[in-house]
Amino acid sequence: MTYRELYFELKKKENKYLNNTAIKTLLQDDGGFNDFFNLISHFDEEVKNLDKINKNIERIMNGEPLQYVLGYAFFVNSNYVVDENVLIPRQETEELAVATLKTIIKMFGKEPKIKIVDIGTGSGILGIYLKEYFPNSHVICTDISENSLKIAKINAKNHNVEIDFRQGDMLEPIKNENDISVVISNPPYIGDSSSVEPQTLKYEPHLALFAEPKTKYYEIIMTLIDSAIMSNKFLIAFEIGEDMKEELTRILEEKYMGIMYKFEKDIYGKDRYLYIIRDEGITYVA
Ligand SMILES: C[S@@+](CC[C@H](N)C(=O)[O-])C[C@H]1O[C@@H](n2cnc3c(N)ncnc32)[C@H](O)[C@@H]1O
Repeated sequence: MTYRELYFELKKKENKYLNNTAIKTLLQDDGGFNDFFNLISHFDEEVKNLDKINKNIERIMNGEPLQYVLGYAFFVNSNYVVDENVLIPRQETEELAVATLKTIIKMFGKEPKIKIVDIGTGSGILGIYLKEYFPNSHVICTDISENSLKIAKINAKNHNVEIDFRQGDMLEPIKNENDISVVISNPPYIGDSSSVEPQTLKYEPHLALFAEPKTKYYEIIMTLIDSAIMSNKFLIAFEIGEDMKEELTRILEEKYMGIMYKFEKDIYGKDRYLYIIRDEGITYVA
């Protein structure tokens, strides 16, 4: 069977899970084609591994996320290994990564030699992405889940970067550190499972999703604002839930009066990022 025949056969079965992106990606993956145009230029070639594609289609039709079926997910500019122990990287988190990169450059220059910590690293995407751009920096990636760190370590190896991985609860793995300049985190922030897609609820690790109360992990990480382990000049970059701005503002105003902070919107206009900065010179975030 050729890619053309299979493509049009699968298009007839298209549904919520086996959507056009899934169909194209499965075929591209089979042929090792890096995009759709590459696939269509090989459209009349025989499919390499039809059995494997059929098995993968069955898993996708059953609702399993495409990224878990393929074993990898695309994040910003490259692929990362994922399995059911790690959250699938989200587009919102790509925005966090890129904006944080720009803000680090503004605050610390293009080749900073600083200490960066990614708390709740999951598949390692944020820490690895920053280490690739800032090879002279010391990047520490932490997670409470040993299984997610196994995946993050594979990703660091695949991306040829040296990361200091540490397992533990929130700030525990960095309690003996000093001079931390950047903390980046996309912690669990969902309070109520009713707002979560059934597919996410069924397949993705609940440890990565839920917090009670939903500000719990932000409050823990925010204690770094007054902590001696931070450098005099620092950036704390968070992804947040779209309904958290008010509550996080209240916490910052009540407990950390005078600290500079800024909420940013995602491309859909939702408040999805919080940047906390201590730096006399900087007045805005990328
Ligand atoms: C929303 S996921 C983010 C994963 C990854 N950074 C990303 O953006 O795709 C939250 C991560 O926090 C980790 N986590 C949950 N509770 C934690 C805790 N108490 N201490 C450290 N990490 C925790 C989870 O295992 C999960 O990997």
